[in-house]
Amino acid sequence: MSKAPDVKYFEPPSYISAADIKARILELAAKINDDYAGIDLTLICTLKGSIVFFTDLIRELRMPIHCEFIGTSSYGNHTESTGEIKVTLDLNEPLIGKHVLIVEDIVDTGLTLAYLIDYLKVRKPASLRTVSLLHKPETLKVKTLKMDYIGFQIPNKFVVGYGLDYAEKFRGLPYIGYLENEH
Ligand code: IMP
Ligand code: MG
Repeated sequence: MSKAPDVKYFEPPSYISAADIKARILELAAKINDDYAGIDLTLICTLKGSIVFFTDLIRELRMPIHCEFIGTSSYGNHTESTGEIKVTLDLNEPLIGKHVLIVEDIVDTGLTLAYLIDYLKVRKPASLRTVSLLHKPETLKVKTLKMDYIGFQIPNKFVVGYGLDYAEKFRGLPYIGYLENEH
Protein backbone atom coordinates (compact mmCIF):
# COMPACT_ATOMS: atom_id res chain seq x y z
CA MET A 1 0.00 0.00 0.00
CA SER A 2 1.51 3.34 -0.96
CA LYS A 3 1.70 6.10 1.62
CA ALA A 4 1.64 9.83 1.07
CA PRO A 5 5.09 11.40 1.56
CA ASP A 6 5.66 12.79 5.05
CA VAL A 7 5.78 16.53 4.41
CA LYS A 8 6.68 17.16 8.06
CA TYR A 9 9.94 15.21 7.75
CA PHE A 10 12.61 17.25 6.02
CA GLU A 11 16.30 16.42 5.65
CA PRO A 12 18.46 19.55 5.45
CA PRO A 13 21.45 19.60 3.08
CA SER A 14 24.64 18.19 4.54
CA TYR A 15 27.32 20.54 5.73
CA ILE A 16 29.58 18.10 7.59
CA SER A 17 29.13 14.41 6.82
CA ALA A 18 28.89 11.68 9.44
CA ALA A 19 32.24 10.30 8.21
CA ASP A 20 33.98 13.68 8.57
CA ILE A 21 32.55 14.11 12.09
CA LYS A 22 33.78 10.67 13.05
CA ALA A 23 37.28 11.33 11.68
CA ARG A 24 37.52 14.64 13.54
CA ILE A 25 36.34 13.06 16.81
CA LEU A 26 39.12 10.49 16.51
CA GLU A 27 41.64 13.35 16.18
CA LEU A 28 40.17 15.26 19.15
CA ALA A 29 40.11 12.09 21.26
CA ALA A 30 43.76 11.37 20.39
CA LYS A 31 44.75 14.82 21.76
CA ILE A 32 42.60 14.42 24.87
CA ASN A 33 43.98 10.90 25.45
CA ASP A 34 47.51 12.32 25.26
CA ASP A 35 46.80 15.27 27.52
CA TYR A 36 45.01 13.25 30.20
CA ALA A 37 46.86 9.92 29.97
CA GLY A 38 46.31 8.03 33.23
CA ILE A 39 44.25 10.84 34.77
CA ASP A 40 40.66 10.46 35.98
CA LEU A 41 38.57 12.81 33.86
CA THR A 42 35.14 14.21 34.64
CA LEU A 43 33.27 15.08 31.44
CA ILE A 44 30.30 17.42 31.60
CA CYS A 45 27.71 17.08 28.83
CA THR A 46 25.75 20.27 28.23
CA LEU A 47 22.17 19.27 27.51
CA LYS A 48 20.65 18.83 25.12
CA GLY A 49 22.73 19.76 22.08
CA SER A 50 25.89 17.88 23.10
CA ILE A 51 24.34 14.47 23.70
CA VAL A 52 25.39 12.89 20.42
CA PHE A 53 28.89 14.38 20.36
CA PHE A 54 29.34 13.40 24.02
CA THR A 55 28.38 9.77 23.54
CA ASP A 56 30.62 9.44 20.47
CA LEU A 57 33.56 11.22 22.14
CA ILE A 58 33.56 9.21 25.37
CA ARG A 59 33.76 5.95 23.42
CA GLU A 60 37.14 7.06 22.04
CA LEU A 61 38.64 8.03 25.39
CA ARG A 62 41.14 5.76 27.10
CA MET A 63 41.28 7.02 30.68
CA PRO A 64 38.91 6.46 33.63
CA ILE A 65 35.99 8.81 33.03
CA HIS A 66 33.03 10.12 35.01
CA CYS A 67 30.01 11.47 33.15
CA GLU A 68 28.05 14.46 34.40
CA PHE A 69 25.19 16.39 32.83
CA ILE A 70 24.23 20.04 33.09
CA GLY A 71 21.20 21.76 31.60
CA THR A 72 21.11 25.41 30.64
CA SER A 73 18.77 27.77 28.91
CA SER A 74 19.31 31.41 28.09
CA TYR A 75 16.91 34.13 29.08
CA GLY A 76 15.11 35.80 26.19
CA ASN A 77 15.66 34.76 22.62
CA HIS A 78 19.02 33.58 21.36
CA THR A 79 19.90 36.62 19.25
CA GLU A 80 19.30 39.02 22.10
CA SER A 81 21.00 36.90 24.72
CA THR A 82 22.30 38.95 27.62
CA GLY A 83 24.67 36.17 28.57
CA GLU A 84 22.61 35.48 31.64
CA ILE A 85 21.99 31.76 31.71
CA LYS A 86 19.56 29.73 33.73
CA VAL A 87 20.89 26.38 34.98
CA THR A 88 17.94 24.02 34.62
CA LEU A 89 19.73 20.85 35.75
CA ASP A 90 22.82 20.82 37.93
CA LEU A 91 25.59 18.26 38.41
CA ASN A 92 25.23 15.27 40.72
CA GLU A 93 28.76 15.27 42.09
CA PRO A 94 31.09 17.96 43.52
CA LEU A 95 33.97 19.07 41.27
CA ILE A 96 36.48 19.93 43.96
CA GLY A 97 39.94 18.58 43.08
CA LYS A 98 38.76 16.94 39.83
CA HIS A 99 40.02 17.31 36.29
CA VAL A 100 37.03 18.56 34.35
CA LEU A 101 36.26 18.85 30.65
CA ILE A 102 33.09 20.67 29.56
CA VAL A 103 31.72 19.12 26.35
CA GLU A 104 29.82 21.64 24.19
CA ASP A 105 28.06 21.22 20.88
CA ILE A 106 28.61 24.71 19.52
CA VAL A 107 30.12 28.02 20.55
CA ASP A 108 28.34 30.88 18.82
CA THR A 109 28.54 34.13 20.85
CA GLY A 110 30.38 32.20 23.56
CA LEU A 111 28.12 33.61 26.26
CA THR A 112 26.81 30.21 27.36
CA LEU A 113 30.22 28.60 27.70
CA ALA A 114 31.70 31.69 29.42
CA TYR A 115 28.85 31.61 31.94
CA LEU A 116 29.30 27.88 32.53
CA ILE A 117 33.05 28.24 33.12
CA ASP A 118 32.43 30.93 35.77
CA TYR A 119 29.59 28.91 37.26
CA LEU A 120 31.75 25.78 37.64
CA LYS A 121 35.19 27.14 38.48
CA VAL A 122 34.07 28.35 41.90
CA ARG A 123 33.65 24.67 42.77
CA LYS A 124 37.45 24.43 42.68
CA PRO A 125 38.18 21.71 40.12
CA ALA A 126 41.88 20.78 39.81
CA SER A 127 41.61 21.82 36.14
CA LEU A 128 38.82 23.00 33.85
CA ARG A 129 38.98 22.77 30.07
CA THR A 130 36.46 22.89 27.27
CA VAL A 131 35.85 21.01 24.06
CA SER A 132 33.35 22.17 21.46
CA LEU A 133 32.49 20.26 18.31
CA LEU A 134 31.66 23.47 16.44
CA HIS A 135 32.71 27.09 16.70
CA LYS A 136 31.54 30.14 14.74
CA PRO A 137 34.46 32.60 15.02
CA GLU A 138 32.54 35.39 13.22
CA THR A 139 29.88 35.64 15.91
CA LEU A 140 32.09 35.19 18.97
CA LYS A 141 31.51 37.98 21.51
CA VAL A 142 33.60 36.67 24.41
CA LYS A 143 37.05 37.11 22.86
CA THR A 144 38.81 35.76 25.95
CA LEU A 145 36.83 32.51 25.96
CA LYS A 146 38.83 29.44 26.96
CA MET A 147 38.45 26.98 24.09
CA ASP A 148 40.93 24.16 24.49
CA TYR A 149 39.73 21.74 21.84
CA ILE A 150 37.64 22.66 18.79
CA GLY A 151 36.23 20.22 16.23
CA PHE A 152 35.32 22.49 13.31
CA GLN A 153 35.30 26.22 12.77
CA ILE A 154 32.26 27.08 10.69
CA PRO A 155 30.86 30.25 9.10
CA ASN A 156 27.81 32.01 10.47
CA LYS A 157 25.27 29.46 9.27
CA PHE A 158 22.49 27.94 11.34
CA VAL A 159 23.37 24.28 11.63
CA VAL A 160 21.28 21.35 12.85
CA GLY A 161 21.62 17.63 13.38
CA TYR A 162 24.03 15.45 15.34
CA GLY A 163 22.33 16.70 18.52
CA LEU A 164 21.75 20.28 17.43
CA ASP A 165 18.21 21.46 16.96
CA TYR A 166 16.04 24.09 15.44
CA ALA A 167 12.93 24.38 17.64
CA GLU A 168 13.69 20.86 19.00
CA LYS A 169 13.79 19.35 15.51
CA PHE A 170 16.64 17.61 13.65
CA ARG A 171 18.60 16.37 16.70
CA GLY A 172 18.62 12.81 15.33
CA LEU A 173 20.24 13.55 11.96
CA PRO A 174 23.52 11.59 11.77
CA TYR A 175 25.28 14.48 9.99
CA ILE A 176 25.43 18.27 10.44
CA GLY A 177 23.13 20.03 8.03
CA TYR A 178 22.27 23.66 7.55
CA LEU A 179 19.04 25.56 7.27
CA GLU A 180 18.58 28.15 4.58
CA ASN A 181 15.00 28.88 5.53
CA GLU A 182 12.92 27.98 8.51
CA HIS A 183 11.38 24.52 8.44
P1 IMP B 1 26.21 30.96 22.51
O1 IMP B 1 25.88 31.19 23.95
O2 IMP B 1 25.79 32.11 21.66
O3 IMP B 1 27.64 30.56 22.27
O4 IMP B 1 25.31 29.80 21.98
C1 IMP B 1 25.24 28.62 22.59
C2 IMP B 1 23.99 27.84 22.24
O5 IMP B 1 23.21 28.42 21.18
C3 IMP B 1 24.40 26.50 21.73
O6 IMP B 1 24.72 25.62 22.78
C4 IMP B 1 23.20 26.11 20.94
O7 IMP B 1 22.22 25.58 21.79
C5 IMP B 1 22.69 27.40 20.35
N1 IMP B 1 23.18 27.61 18.96
C6 IMP B 1 24.03 28.54 18.51
N2 IMP B 1 24.24 28.43 17.19
C7 IMP B 1 23.50 27.36 16.79
C8 IMP B 1 23.29 26.72 15.50
O8 IMP B 1 23.84 27.08 14.44
N3 IMP B 1 22.45 25.65 15.52
C9 IMP B 1 21.83 25.19 16.63
N4 IMP B 1 22.00 25.75 17.84
C10 IMP B 1 22.82 26.84 17.92
MG1 MG C 1 25.23 23.82 23.86
